[in-house]
Amino acid sequence: MAYRIRIEPLGREISAPQGTNILDACLRQGIWLPHACTHGTCGTCKAQVLEGEIDYGDASSFALMDFEREDGYALLCQAKPLSDVVVEAEVDVEEGVEFPLVEDYRAMVVHVDPVSPLVRRVTLELDRDTVLLPGQYFQWEVPGHQVKRAYSAAQITGRRLEFHIKYSPQGVASEWVFNSLRPGDQVALSGPYGRFFLRPPDGSPAVFLAGGTGLAPIKAMITALYLQRPDYPATLIFGARTVDELYDDKYFRALSTAHPTFRYLPAVSDETPPDNSHVVSGRVDEVIARTFERLQGHKAYVAGPSPMVDACVAALYQKRLFARDIYREDFFTQEEHGQTIRSPLSRRGR
Ligand SMILES: Cc1cc2nc3c(=O)[nH]c(=O)nc-3n(C[C@H](O)[C@H](O)[C@H](O)COP(=O)(O)OP(=O)(O)OC[C@H]3O[C@@H](n4cnc5c(N)ncnc54)[C@H](O)[C@@H]3O)c2cc1C
Ligand code: FES
Repeated sequence: MAYRIRIEPLGREISAPQGTNILDACLRQGIWLPHACTHGTCGTCKAQVLEGEIDYGDASSFALMDFEREDGYALLCQAKPLSDVVVEAEVDVEEGVEFPLVEDYRAMVVHVDPVSPLVRRVTLELDRDTVLLPGQYFQWEVPGHQVKRAYSAAQITGRRLEFHIKYSPQGVASEWVFNSLRPGDQVALSGPYGRFFLRPPDGSPAVFLAGGTGLAPIKAMITALYLQRPDYPATLIFGARTVDELYDDKYFRALSTAHPTFRYLPAVSDETPPDNSHVVSGRVDEVIARTFERLQGHKAYVAGPSPMVDACVAALYQKRLFARDIYREDFFTQEEHGQTIRSPLSRRGR
């Protein structure tokens, strides 16, 4: 069984199999709608259901307040049609950006390498070519759990994608990746998702800020940037708690040697860096505060755990960077999903 979904103000109509969320149906059929986490946590995909019935799915009550439901709003990454529906969404068009379609892939695990005490680098070989914007992510299906987890692609070489996965204690994907994932295993994934990607370089100096595995999408962006523009001015501040958590240090040191306009500042917050080390001390937001006078005219990309991203964005504002020049990817987890509403109820949109 399939339902018709009409997206206003575009006036475009698609058909979606029962059980598919509205966002996914649109992204797979060439209607790009704003989204970020795709897990009902961030609220980016909120839109008004004008006609028809939906199942609200697993929407965080922080991302979708009760009064918003009353007004007919839903999170499209969670909402599944129970009839034909009409949705009014904010469709923001970005000049010069062509969004790749979301598709399902099967992949074989090529490598699983420990790169720091709590991070594995996983290399997958997809079953066919893919197109993605540097910084976008894929949804991995976690076997035996019927859940998906978002992981950002860090390197794209032909069909090979590199991912950086951090261990969360008792996390379903973490336990699988750290305890049983092996070379030769098969992984089902879909993507690419997200609006955190490198914008066409327009000459504005770039500031890349990464916390932990937030380095993954940032690495994809920086690699793509220097392939296109070898002399582009950019700074990377990569934050971790301890020096042994600063993985891919050699990669970025080599990049800064090859490209003198690239400045690399690894930083640790919970220990004193060794003497004569290139590592600086402090959290990423503290390093921003003492490194830059003003950031007007820059573009900033921030990725990592949500509290780190919030602190960095506040520091960027302090340095006079406008919100429109800041791109962020919050690595939300189930913990941040907070008080979830798993309501079996559906309601009629207005
Ligand atoms: C857009 C995006 C991109 C991302 N990219 C990356 C990436 O490149 N690399 C990366 O490492 N991560 C990334 N993440 C995070 C990733 O998707 C997972 O959330 C993370 O790996 C944890 O998944 P898990 O299944 O191991 O843990 P989960 O099962 O999701 O649990 C996470 C933690 O919360 C606890 N927990 C679970 N449920 C609850 C609850 N109801 N209440 C309180 N605590 C709970 C668990 O014990 C665990 O410690 C990204 C997230 C997003 C949204
Ligand atoms: S994309 Fe739907 S809530 Fe984040």
